Amino acid sequence: MTEADTGAVDPDGPDPKRRRLLTLGVAGVGVAGVAALAAPMLSSFAPSRRAKAAGAPVEVDISKLEAGQMMTVEWRGKPVWIVNRTDEALASLGEVTGELADPASEMPQQPEYVSDETRSIKPNMMVMLGVCTHLGCAPTYRPEIAPPDLGADWLGGFFCPCHGSKFDFAGRVYSGVPAPTNLEVPPHSYVSDTLVLIGVDQEAA
Ligand code: FES
Repeated sequence: MTEADTGAVDPDGPDPKRRRLLTLGVAGVGVAGVAALAAPMLSSFAPSRRAKAAGAPVEVDISKLEAGQMMTVEWRGKPVWIVNRTDEALASLGEVTGELADPASEMPQQPEYVSDETRSIKPNMMVMLGVCTHLGCAPTYRPEIAPPDLGADWLGGFFCPCHGSKFDFAGRVYSGVPAPTNLEVPPHSYVSDTLVLIGVDQEAA
C-alpha cells in the first residue's frame, strides 16, 4: 500500500510546509548576518557628537548688549556678529542707499524674513556673519562717523582691511569695492526678547 493510499506522511519525506519553514529560517539568518556586518559600517558613517554640536543652533543672551555695541559668537565654525544698532545707525541706512551695490538685498544673502532695508527681524538688532564676501577676511566694526582713514562721507558700518571693502550698518556692500555681495545673514529667530537662536529660522522656531 502506498502513502497516497493510507494518507500517512513520511517524516523524512519532502514535506512542502517544513521545507518552506526551513527556507525562511535560512533566509532570516542571511539577513541577520548582513545586518550584523553592516552595523559597524553604519556607525562609522554617523556624525560624531562633536560634529553634531558644531552644526547645532546657538542660543545667545543679548540682554547685556547695549546700543552701539557688537558681540561675536561662533556658529558652525564661523563668527556671527550681533549688533545693537543705535537710532543714528538705523537712520544712516536710508542715507547711503545710492552708494550701495545691492541696496534692496536682491542677492540671496539673507532669509526672506529679513529682506527689508534693516536686514533684521528687530530693527535695531542686526545678526550677520562676520566674513567678508570677497576672500573671507574678518571686517572690522567701524561705527564712528567720518574717521580720517575712511573719509568724511563715512557714516559708520564695517570695513574690511584686507582689500578695502566697505559695508553699511546692515552689512550691505558699497559699490566699487572688491566684495561682490552683502554680508550673509544666517537663519535665526527669537526665543524671547533677550534670547536669539542662531541656526533656526524664524518660522521653524
Ligand atoms: S577679503 Fe575683504 S576686501 Fe578682500
